[in-house]
Amino acid sequence: MDVAVPIFSRWLHIFSVIVLLGGVFYARFFAGELSDRFKPMAYIVIGGILASGLYNFLSKPAYPPHYQLWFGIKVLLALHVFAAVILYRKEKPRTLTGVVISGAAIVAISAYLRAISLSFK
Ligand code: HEM
Repeated sequence: MDVAVPIFSRWLHIFSVIVLLGGVFYARFFAGELSDRFKPMAYIVIGGILASGLYNFLSKPAYPPHYQLWFGIKVLLALHVFAAVILYRKEKPRTLTGVVISGAAIVAISAYLRAISLSFK
């Protein structure tokens, strides 16, 4: 049972990220704008991302070399994503392009963080 909380936390993190980035991706490339009705959902999933991300970070048994460096860059990009979604106005659709680019970079950095953690003993 001691794996239940880490698994739930990983699920919450990735599911929330899918909802946030998927919603913005759809708005940018298909709908043309982000629906007003997405905002309340965005606040909920940002909360989920922050809570689960913090838990994932603090519960790591060890941090490989350079982990904190890339983690810091990831969190700065994540703050850009959160701020851009929260401050989004329909007159500024290019905001969504920035979110898609930052989001793609964050997912790549996250995969790298996992890879260096798995090979670190
Ligand atoms: C839009 C923002 C974010 C995105 C798109 C994102 C995406 C991801 C993804 C896809 C993973 C899984 C990586 C894998 O297993 O291959 C992950 C893991 C992780 N995320 Fe995030 N994340 C975001 C924000 C955050 C924030 C704000 C924090 C910290 C407060 C955080 C902390 C973590 C940690 C610690 C891991 C585990 C990395 C490891 O395996 O060492 N994330 N994230």
